Amino acid sequence: MAMHVFLLMLLFLHIKPSVIRTAGAHDVICIAKERQALLKFQQGLVDDSGQLISWGTRDCCTWRGVLCNNLTAHVVSLDLHRQDFSFDLPLTGNISTSLLELQHLNYLDLGGNNFGDGQNKIPEFIGSLGDLQFLDLADNSFIGEIPHSLRI
Ligand SMILES: *[C@@H]1O[C@H](CO)[C@@H](O)[C@H](O)[C@H]1NC(C)=O
Ligand SMILES: *[C@@H]1O[C@H](CO)[C@@H](O)[C@H](O)[C@H]1NC(C)=O
Repeated sequence: MAMHVFLLMLLFLHIKPSVIRTAGAHDVICIAKERQALLKFQQGLVDDSGQLISWGTRDCCTWRGVLCNNLTAHVVSLDLHRQDFSFDLPLTGNISTSLLELQHLNYLDLGGNNFGDGQNKIPEFIGSLGDLQFLDLADNSFIGEIPHSLRI
């Protein structure tokens, strides 16, 4: 009898942490395909001050600037707005079309960086991000007109 209770307690102790974890806000783990898409995006960037040093671990939902839906694990927000102008150098380079793999992305903020570099236009494909509700590409030294795909 005593042994029985003891075993039950062991089971309970064993199971309890995972029960708590599934109810928690940070339980979701990054979707592999979306992780790949983010890494490809990172490869196109020039990140001279190492802002994205956290990018590379298994769970992309914990990477700087990345937010996942806490139930579906889909990446829903990418916020790389330049925060600290005295420490962070602006991100430059290419905005990879791999972002199109983030099919549930509804918030994209790349403001305050230098993706335009005084010579690049806003990439046309940004307008094809189907779920996007917020877009900030301000202060990036883009040239040319706003692509048709982004006009309302
Ligand atoms: C998930 O996020 C929503 C809104 O962002 C929040 O209301 C909800 O409590 C969260 N769920 C869990 C399990 O943390
Ligand atoms: C961005 O794309 C251009 C043209 O394809 C290429 O020459 C350049 O090396 C790329 N930059 C980075 C940082 O990948």
